[in-house]
Amino acid sequence: MPNTPLTVVRSKSGLRDAIANIHYSGQRVGFVPTMGALHNGHLSLIDLARTKSDFVAASIFVNPTQFAPGEDFETYPRDEDADLEKLASAGCNLVYLPTVEDMYPTGSLTDVRVPGPSDLLDGVYRPHFFYGVTTVVARLFIHVRPDVAVFGEKDFQQLQIIRQMTRDLGFEIEIVGGPTQRDPDGLAQSSRNRYLSDDQRRIAGALQAALVRAAARIEAGTALSTALAEARAFLRTAGFDKVDYISAVDATTLRDLPETRSEWPDITRLLGAAWIGKTRLIDNIPLTGA
Ligand code: PAF
Repeated sequence: MPNTPLTVVRSKSGLRDAIANIHYSGQRVGFVPTMGALHNGHLSLIDLARTKSDFVAASIFVNPTQFAPGEDFETYPRDEDADLEKLASAGCNLVYLPTVEDMYPTGSLTDVRVPGPSDLLDGVYRPHFFYGVTTVVARLFIHVRPDVAVFGEKDFQQLQIIRQMTRDLGFEIEIVGGPTQRDPDGLAQSSRNRYLSDDQRRIAGALQAALVRAAARIEAGTALSTALAEARAFLRTAGFDKVDYISAVDATTLRDLPETRSEWPDITRLLGAAWIGKTRLIDNIPLTGA
């Protein structure tokens, strides 16, 4: 695709004028928030946003409030020049690179929290995480004023929590989930994959394999708790150092499924999080329903 002129906006005030003009001309604004270090997964979200809107805006902001002390905020990969090139070749129209002061003005006190789903699964292991995500995404929604926003299904829990927040706060924004992009061995594409050494990278594809095997075992009638325990054991045998969870949940509430299948909702999901060395990988696949 030919390079689209990409407007780079580095302040909230500059963004306000650019977006006002787009809305004034009657165009529908699509939005893809990111933390940069862009890969094909992000670019597929830009493609999807383009099919749902007339003008695609992305943001790049490594959000400090979703990292706990000791996590990788300082070392999180940052490569602005490469990111801008990728956005331009993907046909993105505008990128917003706010400052910390734009997102969290001095003296700022307001958090946006979705208690309940934010405290399950990843929320058990990273209790601050979703509170930081919903706070920054709500602020980005207010700055960008999109009609549609696209988030990757790779971060399925994040996507469902953002859907809930959008409903609760009455944002008139359509939330769309984009399919996970995978490497040939099944590893879900993620900015953090670049932390993996070659040896670790060879192991990493086992996370999706564990979920796919568990789904097949459950489909074949194996008890849920047995299939989930087998998946954890499979990961340890494959070389993962620690498994935070492998869980089968209601895709809407993110609550664990009961053992009795007749009590399951129509749409369910299998999610997992596990460590190779210092790198934590997450993934998920549908179990039943969409
Ligand atoms: O998924 C991400 O990259 C981040 O959590 C998001 C949604 C951009 C908020 O910082």
